Amino acid sequence: MNIRDILKEKLTEEELSHLRTSFDIVGDIAIIEIPEEIQSRKKEIAKAILKVHKNVHNVCMKTGAREGEFRLRGVELIAGETTLTTHMESGCKILVDVAKAYFSVRESTERLRIAEMVKPKETVMVLFAGVGPYAIVIGKKRPDIGKIYALEINPDAVRLMEDNVRINRLQTKVFPVLGDARKDCKPYYGKCNRVIMPLPHTAHKFLDVAFHLLKKKGGTIHLYHIEDEGDVSTEVMDKMKEFSGKRKYEISEKRKVLPYSPGSYKFCIDVRVF
Ligand SMILES: C[S@@+](CC[C@H](N)C(=O)[O-])C[C@H]1O[C@@H](n2cnc3c(N)ncnc32)[C@H](O)[C@@H]1O
Repeated sequence: MNIRDILKEKLTEEELSHLRTSFDIVGDIAIIEIPEEIQSRKKEIAKAILKVHKNVHNVCMKTGAREGEFRLRGVELIAGETTLTTHMESGCKILVDVAKAYFSVRESTERLRIAEMVKPKETVMVLFAGVGPYAIVIGKKRPDIGKIYALEINPDAVRLMEDNVRINRLQTKVFPVLGDARKDCKPYYGKCNRVIMPLPHTAHKFLDVAFHLLKKKGGTIHLYHIEDEGDVSTEVMDKMKEFSGKRKYEISEKRKVLPYSPGSYKFCIDVRVF
């Protein structure tokens, strides 16, 4: 039986027409969108999800879009007991509290792709690191890595990242840093081979920091940005020109990561700096 079959007996046809049956599962938490028209039936909907998905023990209803500096989404726990869970990704355990820190299961392929690009002994900086999924996946997949610094401004996310480093036994590889990418990166200037910038609405405004973080001999920046298909947006190109100083750079790739809104996508823009 699927969720719709179970709910056929509880909801009217009109109510069923509003039902959405696709949702993300983070660890043992289903995160669902319930349209206003049927929010009064949220408990029945949650029960149906628990019945069909035996690996799900908690259900959260989205109560708003992601917003604010921490990119948090409002969620209401409508079944189960907790918003804290352990998600498995690429053989890594990622502890996450979906109410207190950003985490998206949809970016796992992208994280793996970046991990595959990292070279032995590199020093990597992940800005906007969240609970640490990029740093953890790179650390696990590339045991020959040098160091990974992972800087994040949300203290709850950093606490979870510290747990994730321990759980995945990466204490000698991954170093979480609680701080602001604009104010707290100076100690790492000139030390990195690679900078990862997964904050797609505003990361380009921090490109000056990324250029400073790279070693004198150069390196790679992975900038995430929401834009249209085609050439890299002038918004990004202008910032790159403004912030690169005397350094030479080239865009080596612009790659679609995920759809964002009709006509726009989250892209990863790879920049080689010399
Ligand atoms: C889109 S989330 C990505 C999190 C993580 N990299 C992931 O893939 O799950 C962006 C993160 O950047 C953090 N952030 C926002 N502004 C920041 C800043 N100025 N300095 C450091 N972190 C920041 C937010 O708290 C949030 O956790």
